[in-house]
Amino acid sequence: MTFRARHLLGIEPLHPEEIRSILDLADTYADLNRRGAQAGKVLDGLTQINMFFEASTRTQASFELAGKRLGANVMNMGVQASSIKKGETLIDTALTLNAMRPDLLVVRHPHSGAANLLAEKVTCAVLNAGDGRHEHPTQALLDALTIRREKGRLHRLTVAICGDIAHSRVARSNILLLGKMENRIRLIAPPTLIPAGAADWGVEVHDDMAEGLKDADVVMMLRLQKERMDGAFIPSQREYYHRFGLDAEKLKAAKADAIVMHPGPMNRGVEIDGTLADDINRSVIQEQVEMGVAVRMAAMELLARNLRAAAGQEGTHV
Ligand code: NCD
Repeated sequence: MTFRARHLLGIEPLHPEEIRSILDLADTYADLNRRGAQAGKVLDGLTQINMFFEASTRTQASFELAGKRLGANVMNMGVQASSIKKGETLIDTALTLNAMRPDLLVVRHPHSGAANLLAEKVTCAVLNAGDGRHEHPTQALLDALTIRREKGRLHRLTVAICGDIAHSRVARSNILLLGKMENRIRLIAPPTLIPAGAADWGVEVHDDMAEGLKDADVVMMLRLQKERMDGAFIPSQREYYHRFGLDAEKLKAAKADAIVMHPGPMNRGVEIDGTLADDINRSVIQEQVEMGVAVRMAAMELLARNLRAAAGQEGTHV
């Protein structure tokens, strides 16, 4: 079985075999990129539009680079410059762009469900680059690839996810992916930052770092998503760092070879100590960014293959 879907909207609908297919292809791209070798132009003749309704540095750059390495024509649509500011709805914008006949539409939007809604309205393949608190599938896939390369496997690992779980699409997609691959997942956060219903997700929930990090193989830190908070969720940043900020001392509770991850952007001194984040013996944060390009190359190649196969069946040309 390989990856058969038309869109990449989330981790939820994916079968473990589909996840493995994406990671295996991404692995070969990661090696190719590291050697500085040329990738085959498998997206030659295809148009990719990046539509970002929320600020993004690494995700947008990574999708752009991935598309260009594979030969796509890439267009970035900045929200500042778009008609959204003039009151056009998401659907109208999407239909306008769809009329320009893109093949791949990469979308980031502050509302949960925005990518799924778009996928119903357009004829091209949609890739979700993060929708509200819902999903961020390529982030979970690049995290999975980083873990698999570092640990040699992606099952039966203890993974601690710490911080603002309640507002995090990264946490949600990672919990879904790591759960499908049969890992043990621990969430560590103050009770105000644990989403309601988390106890039913098949995860352990902790509000003490020493307990939650005990014997962990992987420690994934999350940013405090202040832009999604509409009240006071923590007493103060200082207090938060004291209890939940990761530093070398707290990391001692985890396994001696535990890796430290963060999706970025980091708040140094809020959820993670800056020195630890830069410690190349423990932190794989730069490798995560590197794997991001490889995973997005793989995801877009697989979707393009499916587009071509569907067009072939309908007798049209892509
Ligand atoms: C994350 C996001 O946007 O969801 N960042 C990212 O994609 N690298 C996490 C965050 O914003 O904290």
